[in-house]
Amino acid sequence: MSATIIDGKAVAAQVRAEVARGVAAFVAGSGRAPGLVGIQVGDDPASELYQAGKARAAHEVGMVSRRITLREATSQAELDAIIDELNADDGVDGVLVQLPVPAQLSEPLIASRIHPDKDVDGFSPISLGRLMRGEPGNVPCTPQGVMRLLGEGGVPLEGAHAVVVGRSLIVGKPQSMLLLSANCTVTIAHSRTRDLPALCRDADILVAAVGRPEMIRGDWIRPGAAVIDVGINRTADGLRGDVAFDEVAAVAGWITPVPGGVGPTTIAYLLANTLEAARRRSGADSSQGVRL
Ligand code: GUN
Repeated sequence: MSATIIDGKAVAAQVRAEVARGVAAFVAGSGRAPGLVGIQVGDDPASELYQAGKARAAHEVGMVSRRITLREATSQAELDAIIDELNADDGVDGVLVQLPVPAQLSEPLIASRIHPDKDVDGFSPISLGRLMRGEPGNVPCTPQGVMRLLGEGGVPLEGAHAVVVGRSLIVGKPQSMLLLSANCTVTIAHSRTRDLPALCRDADILVAAVGRPEMIRGDWIRPGAAVIDVGINRTADGLRGDVAFDEVAAVAGWITPVPGGVGPTTIAYLLANTLEAARRRSGADSSQGVRL
């Protein structure tokens, strides 16, 4: 093994400690704690775990956190009415709906319904537009975590060729914008990309977000490259990333493990986004935030 392992748990703990200090200062200044509400529709066990983890993490940094669990058959109109109520509630700074949602619900309608200032997932058209325009706003959590992991690892970004494998709205697209803002030269690859292994071999930074267990192999990696594994795939052999860890770690310069890499930083940045949303909503200067 030659790669330095970037410890996502340790980085996430650091971000959470920064947020906890920010929350204490916000409470002292405003007399109230930032509020986060997570909505879950149905009882998917993975969503249940994520929602419980987010609520616990919010509570631990001193936020008011509330979970709303709706029945599987909830209609769009019912969900819209709940979102509208939360949009109008001054004590609520962040609202998220756990994805995926049942088929009768529309993810784009949900993303547009949440007020952009409370959209702590950063999936709304306004938030994504702000990101593309380089304006302040809510930035999706996982890509922010990836940038922090690269920063903590000391990975050089300026002028580096970053290849993002995957073009999802949650990771691939916003990730590309953040890497571009950090002066990387960015290539977005996907299932139709010609000769993906050759393209990956040209990457100084490789972000894998495809959702296919251990697809990225050791001979796809430029020696010394930084490899960030966003994949969380539940297989018969347990949790696996998108990267064949042992093979790739033998060639790469940096690598993130699964579990214990990107995952913990995603929740940490949900908390950071909620604190930032609270500060912005209260008109406070957010320059001391934990943003990149
Ligand atoms: N499902 C998988 N990832 C996410 C996420 O980042 N936010 C929400 N709301 N649901 C998800």
